[in-house]
Amino acid sequence: HSPVKIALLGLGTVGRGVYRILTDNAENIAHKVGAPLIIARILVRDPHKDRGLEVDRSLLTGDFSAILEDPDIAIIVEVMGGIHPALDYALAALERGKSLVTANKDMIALHGRELFAAAEASGADLLFEGSVAGGIPIIRPLKQCLAANRIQEIMGIINGTTNFMLTRMTLEGADFHQVLQEAQARGYAEADPSADIEGLDAARKLAILASIAFNSRITINDVYVEGISRITARDIAYAGELNYVIKLLGIARETPEGIEVRVHPTMVPKSHPLAAVNDVFNAIFVRGDAVGETMFYGRGAGEMPTGSAVAADVMDAARNILHKVPGIVGCTCYEQKPVKPMGR
Ligand code: NAP
Ligand code: HSE
Repeated sequence: HSPVKIALLGLGTVGRGVYRILTDNAENIAHKVGAPLIIARILVRDPHKDRGLEVDRSLLTGDFSAILEDPDIAIIVEVMGGIHPALDYALAALERGKSLVTANKDMIALHGRELFAAAEASGADLLFEGSVAGGIPIIRPLKQCLAANRIQEIMGIINGTTNFMLTRMTLEGADFHQVLQEAQARGYAEADPSADIEGLDAARKLAILASIAFNSRITINDVYVEGISRITARDIAYAGELNYVIKLLGIARETPEGIEVRVHPTMVPKSHPLAAVNDVFNAIFVRGDAVGETMFYGRGAGEMPTGSAVAADVMDAARNILHKVPGIVGCTCYEQKPVKPMGR
């Protein structure tokens, strides 16, 4: 097959990971896909910034229309973050029939409906494995491998920044603000880190997972959210004395009163497997009526783990283009179920 051309929108933490993986593993990836994947353009805010990365600088551009208008670019990888202009670019790309791969949970959680509709209309792929739990496979397992189940519960640690912070605060008595800075320096935190520490990032991810798991449209507004900004060293010490650790958990389950979706700090017994999930690692339990309990574990943020999920989505999109398979869109055939009201 002839090469499949790709454009990256963003060359920050995740974009660099995707670039490195598609470049370093190019031969292996080409064999698996059946054609080479070529990064043809990279959109950045500042094409002149020194990036300390061996990138062919002629690929860098600040002009999205050059990417959109290039008929040879078949796959757009949105790893710039935020809603505007990311959403406008994503919709424009899908409307042109270009496949879209994104790690932007904010955009999927808020505007998934419009994006899925645009993808369905043009038959393009819309893939977002990297949007939840970094390198951990969880979107595809829920959509595909566990699809025959009635999912009863999802519970887990789905934010790497806060888990990194709570781990350091628990094990080393680290200072909240210092350890937040370290998470930012490692590329784990969102551009606005209050999304991590106030639980919004986890809530966005939970809304995405719950929508797929319960086949219903769950939005961020349906999620009860409480972050870790009020957790003190004293809370952590008291929890420890009682043989508990504090973790920020996302929990979604079907109840007789509706779907319950919540994110909040939780006392987890030290004997529970989630208590041993430390640093940037995430872990998600999914319970289905047929399969029983399953657990997904791995690095929940960072350049290479997230790059791994995004690059695999790019490979799937390329395979679908090469084999002319119509796009696999998200949960468009959902039933709208009631959401259990939760106090705030
Ligand atoms: P980042 O490090 O801040 O990088 C953002 C990149 O996008 C930069 O290269 C920036 O250009 C470019 N960009 C931003 N706004 C732009 C605009 N208006 N026009 C052109 N280029 C623009 O962000 P990140 O951490 O890689 O995160 C990207 C996305 O992945 C977000 O949606 C985030 O939620 C998601 N995500 C992140 C992680 C993680 O571990 N970091 C994990 C999973 C998902 P310049 O370089 O010129 O500034
Ligand atoms: N800021 C996010 C986190 C990035 O810390 O989990 C991964 O989605």
